[in-house]
This record gives sequence, structure tokens and C-alpha cells, in this order.
Amino acid sequence: MAQLNILEFPDPRLRQKALPVARVTSRITELIDDMLETMYAAPGIGLAATQIDVHKRIVVADVSESRDHPYALVNPTVQVLGGLQRREEGCLSVPGFFEEVERAERIRVSALDKLGNAQIFEAEGLLSVCIQHECDHLEGRLFVDYLSTLKRSQIRKKLAKLARA
Ligand code: NI
Repeated sequence: MAQLNILEFPDPRLRQKALPVARVTSRITELIDDMLETMYAAPGIGLAATQIDVHKRIVVADVSESRDHPYALVNPTVQVLGGLQRREEGCLSVPGFFEEVERAERIRVSALDKLGNAQIFEAEGLLSVCIQHECDHLEGRLFVDYLSTLKRSQIRKKLAKLARA
């Protein structure tokens, strides 16, 4: 397994739309293991392939306290079931910034797992937020896109300053 480099906002590669995975091969399974290792090491609760400059529709997540309940979602689709929630979000691609975002409370997720088996489950609370956030990455969307233009440009400036330092 290997840890992978995570792209940081405003890297234009984070804006690329990911393509569906045609078949879950052993290379895809390996990639998922590397993504999980990278996510746990960061540490983070979710990671999309887009963030490691792989533009395939793959997301990993683990919102458990014990860090032993990983989700691997290949070609995920999210259906909103209802409700709204506001939570503070962060992102490994926007390090050090946390802002409130409004999202759906309850969702139904359909995806393949890391062996290519179909999975369908419902999620709410933090897991729901995390999956919506990660699936946004696959569309080239970041949580900062939900903030005001002013706030987003402040974050961009601060990150640029940190990168130079
Ligand atoms: Ni993120």
C-alpha cells in the first residue's frame, strides 16, 4: 500500500469531472486500499479519487470513532430522501478551514464496493454529509463553492500565503 499526494485548492485538477469505472479490477481494489491508507494517515473521514488526481468515480469514507468502518464506493449515486442539516465541514484539499454547509439529512446511496459487488444503503447525519461532500469532488465541486465569494477568496489567499511560506 502507498500513501498518495493530495491536491489542494485552488488546483485546477480538483475541478475535473471524474469518469465512471468500467470494471472493478485488482488495480482499482489496490487504488482503493491506497486511498483508505491516505485518508487514515491524513487524517480525514473521506477522500475522493479526484483529490489524488485520479479522475475516476471512487470515494472512500470512515466516520466511525474507532476508524475501523471503511466505506468504498465505486460509481456512487446519491438519492436525496429528505430533511436538511447544517454542519461544519472541512476538506483535506482545503487544509485548516472549517465552515458550515447545508445539505440533505437523509440519502440513499447506490454503488459498487471494492470487489465490484453492488451495495445500497441509507445514510444520515455525518455519514450522509461525508458522502455528499465526497461525491461533489467527483463533479469537480468543493465545499468552499457553497460559501460566499468573499469567504472563498479569503481562503484562497490564505492558502496561497501558506504555500509560499
Ligand atoms: Ni473534501
